[in-house]
Amino acid sequence: MSASSGSIAIIGAGSVGAAIAYSLLLRQVVADIILVDINHEYCQAQVEDLSDATFLSNVRIRQGTAEDARNADIIIISAGAKQKPGETRIGLIDRNIKVLESVTKSLQPIRSDAILLIVANPVDILTFYAQRLSGLPRNQVIGSGTMLDSIRLTGILAKKLKVSDSSIHAFVIGEHGDSQYVAWSSATVHGRPLLKALPLTKTEREEIATTTRMKADSIIKVKGFTSYGVAAVAARMCEAIIFDHRKILPLSHWQEDLGCCLSLPAVLGRKGISPFQVDLDETEQQFLVQSAQALRLIIKENDQ
Ligand code: 2OP
Repeated sequence: MSASSGSIAIIGAGSVGAAIAYSLLLRQVVADIILVDINHEYCQAQVEDLSDATFLSNVRIRQGTAEDARNADIIIISAGAKQKPGETRIGLIDRNIKVLESVTKSLQPIRSDAILLIVANPVDILTFYAQRLSGLPRNQVIGSGTMLDSIRLTGILAKKLKVSDSSIHAFVIGEHGDSQYVAWSSATVHGRPLLKALPLTKTEREEIATTTRMKADSIIKVKGFTSYGVAAVAARMCEAIIFDHRKILPLSHWQEDLGCCLSLPAVLGRKGISPFQVDLDETEQQFLVQSAQALRLIIKENDQ
């Protein structure tokens, strides 16, 4: 694959931002990657380090300013505080909304066809505020959401079934956080209902859902942060946008009927995200509504 002539800016040059740059560089998604951070010296060191990997591709990586970022095809926001061991994603809200406010302000006037990707946490809440603050149409502001959880889930199921991850279609829906839920009713293995191919008891399903939900916590407890998974997710999202793949992915986006941003499978392409009708059973519907209620309450409290 040769890199497209487009550009992607990454705001936040910490472990996640740098891992995203590295994934984009290896996958040759665009020819120009711009890293932006308030700590210029650290950002430059990340750029120098990453530039030693560009011999693998024709990608150019450089440090840039918010003015450079606002003209990029895609702007990824990874700036913000990270969870400490034992801390929930929601616990980051106050710190990361402040960061988001200052970042979105610095991006004005933003290119009207830019796509804004949010990977910082709590991603669903930040996606909602990024839509409000950026002034971009809602379908152009998207959060990485439960795509990472869905990949974690698929990995567990693939191991149990002894098939490749790509043979399984299974989605985690709702919040990228504690109120997420596995949409078991729509999960399939090569088109066959997953629960027919792998008859799981309720307890087994709950165990799998818990392992999926807790994976980040167990990594953070030992190494202090996660970065590679979300970086690969961001790279895949960028590919879908730049090459207009119209791939169906579980991503955080505006839900008109639920009044918040949360993840449901949707179509991702050059113009952003568009809804895709998924069939959920009654329990899944209920969990989705509860997830939305929890997120709306956080927004309400934060707005007061
Ligand atoms: C993750 O799930 C922490 O949200 C980040 O890896």
